[in-house]
Amino acid sequence: MADRTQRMADPNSLLDDPERYNAKLPVWEPRLRLWHWANLLVITLLILSYLIFDNHKALGLPKPQTVFFQKTHVVLGYLFAILVLGRLHLAFRGATFSRWKDLDPRHEGKGFLAVLREEIALHIKPATDTAGRLVPDPDPGHNRLGRYLYLPLLAVILPLQVATGILWASLKFGWLPFPFLHTLSPPLFKASKELVSNIHAAILYAILGFLLLHLLGLVKYELTFASDLFSSMIHGKKILTRKAAEIYRRETEDPPAG
Ligand code: HEM
Repeated sequence: MADRTQRMADPNSLLDDPERYNAKLPVWEPRLRLWHWANLLVITLLILSYLIFDNHKALGLPKPQTVFFQKTHVVLGYLFAILVLGRLHLAFRGATFSRWKDLDPRHEGKGFLAVLREEIALHIKPATDTAGRLVPDPDPGHNRLGRYLYLPLLAVILPLQVATGILWASLKFGWLPFPFLHTLSPPLFKASKELVSNIHAAILYAILGFLLLHLLGLVKYELTFASDLFSSMIHGKKILTRKAAEIYRRETEDPPAG
């Protein structure tokens, strides 16, 4: 218990046990970290502006102010679209641990379901070493179970939210990139706006669900392994086990082409 408390106070002391933890190595490139925190800020502002204009009646907001918050939401949405494009660019052209390969949970010829079963079992009952100590997962980059959240988020959920947001801006205000949508015939306009709004709102709940699972996963990981996972997204480095450091060296020695 004392050992665990001490390690929680200073994650660097994990390196005092070189047989177990081997090195502190840069995993998250600066562009990825910048993306992560800018994304959190923009998503928070998007949700706040949405809550304000969606509850305008309860808040007693006059129409011009409601429209102001709707337009603020759309401008933030354009910024969000640029961020999502930036993250997709990193998935194709970024550093080793920003790429699709590191977001794909499949490995050693096993499919999505087989790995999912394996990872859930491993996270419920982590492996132990010969001394009976818990061994964290050997992936230097994205946590393998976390990839089941990150992959759909980046490949489907966020791009779909951008697409429906942009359609909503064009329908509602006649803004770019499809201003003609604002002048659709009334029945078509009404049906399109309803469809786009419903999908956009449903995806908001998917993003909130992601965030809840993301934070619960991070807290569980930190409590189980007393690691430095949270701060890794700030300074970019992770303290890796011997096996993870070996995989890290193998993967970064042969950086992806492009
Ligand atoms: C208080 C809020 C948040 C905290 C403290 C936080 C923290 C972290 C940390 C520590 C990691 C590294 C985890 C790992 O090694 O697997 C991470 C990764 C990630 N987070 Fe968050 N996060 C937050 C909010 C968000 C939000 C709002 C999103 C997007 C909607 C997000 C998307 C991601 C993604 C996609 C990754 C994987 C890195 C990448 O490939 O871009 N996070 N987060």
